[in-house]
Amino acid sequence: MSPMPAKQPVKNVQIVGTGSYVPERVLTNADLEKIVDTTDEWIVTRTGIHERRISSPEQASSDLAEMASRRALEDAGIDPLELDAIIVATVTPDHFFPNASCLLQYKLGANNALAFDVSAACSGFLYALHVGRCIIMAQEMKTVLVIGVESLSKITDYTDRTTCILFGDGAGAAVLRPGPPETGILGTILGADGSFGPLIQQIAGGSRVPWSQEALDNRLQYLKMRGNEVFKIGVRAMENACRQVLDKTGLTTKDVDILIPHQANIRIIEALAKRLEIAHHKVIINIDHYGNTSAASVAIGLDEGRRSGKIKSGDTVLTVAFGGGVTWASSVIRWA
Ligand code: UT7
Repeated sequence: MSPMPAKQPVKNVQIVGTGSYVPERVLTNADLEKIVDTTDEWIVTRTGIHERRISSPEQASSDLAEMASRRALEDAGIDPLELDAIIVATVTPDHFFPNASCLLQYKLGANNALAFDVSAACSGFLYALHVGRCIIMAQEMKTVLVIGVESLSKITDYTDRTTCILFGDGAGAAVLRPGPPETGILGTILGADGSFGPLIQQIAGGSRVPWSQEALDNRLQYLKMRGNEVFKIGVRAMENACRQVLDKTGLTTKDVDILIPHQANIRIIEALAKRLEIAHHKVIINIDHYGNTSAASVAIGLDEGRRSGKIKSGDTVLTVAFGGGVTWASSVIRWA
């Protein structure tokens, strides 16, 4: 028997295609004024959100993920059968199981891909991106599809004005492949602090509080958030994560051409950019028309930034997220 050929060392991992999708239905602040005791003025000044996209009753997360994935695969010029792995980041999968990744694998006909979900709330896409990169760097796989997707409208309480004005639905996808060392994902920082878990949570439906009429009567199926506390921790955690990942990659905030922050609140985005001394024109912002799409927000920002020409070849792109868990993540990507 002839010996197996030695594997070529992988120098780095590139994003070779991106795609995104948001549902057609637009929910405006004026619409919300009719449902809860709020005003367009309060929502815009406190959050920066004007409108958000809401999936139809028939659409679930794997449907949104499919649309974004097809666009990313087309962009990369890659057939679904070439995929070795599919990693979906979401806290709103179609079901607890089968996972959203398996549903997506079937929809895409990606019969050669293993498939699993990552649950890290708003940091999920960057967690999944890192896992995908590590699998390729370990020479276990060549082509990995990573998706951030949420259907938060399905777990939003439209009687709770403190949360229902914030969230929207959407998906973003990226195709990963080996590439040269100078470009691609240069470094990542991931972190978590479970002691803050109760700040953002969906209490019912798991093994702690299984479905029951009592749970539904108490509206425990819906997302609950202590927004003010999350706000303060979030800004600090995102700033620290950015500084750590820049240190790790030997860069400074002056080297950053584009910042893609998680889109939770325009005030958080502006405070972060100010602390990092990154000029407003370098920051990708979509919260005004999509709201907070959790795991999808950075992924959508990446795709729209690239397709609009805002992200250019050679740009150093700093991405950062913070969310339930609590979790945080930041990656530096040098665009090929
Ligand atoms: O994506 C995961 C991470 N998530 C985040 O990072 C979210 C972080 N948090 C936030 O973005 C903000 O805390 C919110 C936008 C959620 C809330 O803004 P805030 O400036 O922190 O407001 P607040 O919670 O301190 O509430 C101020 C007031 C309260 O009234 P009182 O107690 O002062 O009389 C609220 O009841 O605003 C009231 N309020 C509203 N008023 C009109 C809360 N929601 C609304 C509303 N319309 N929709």
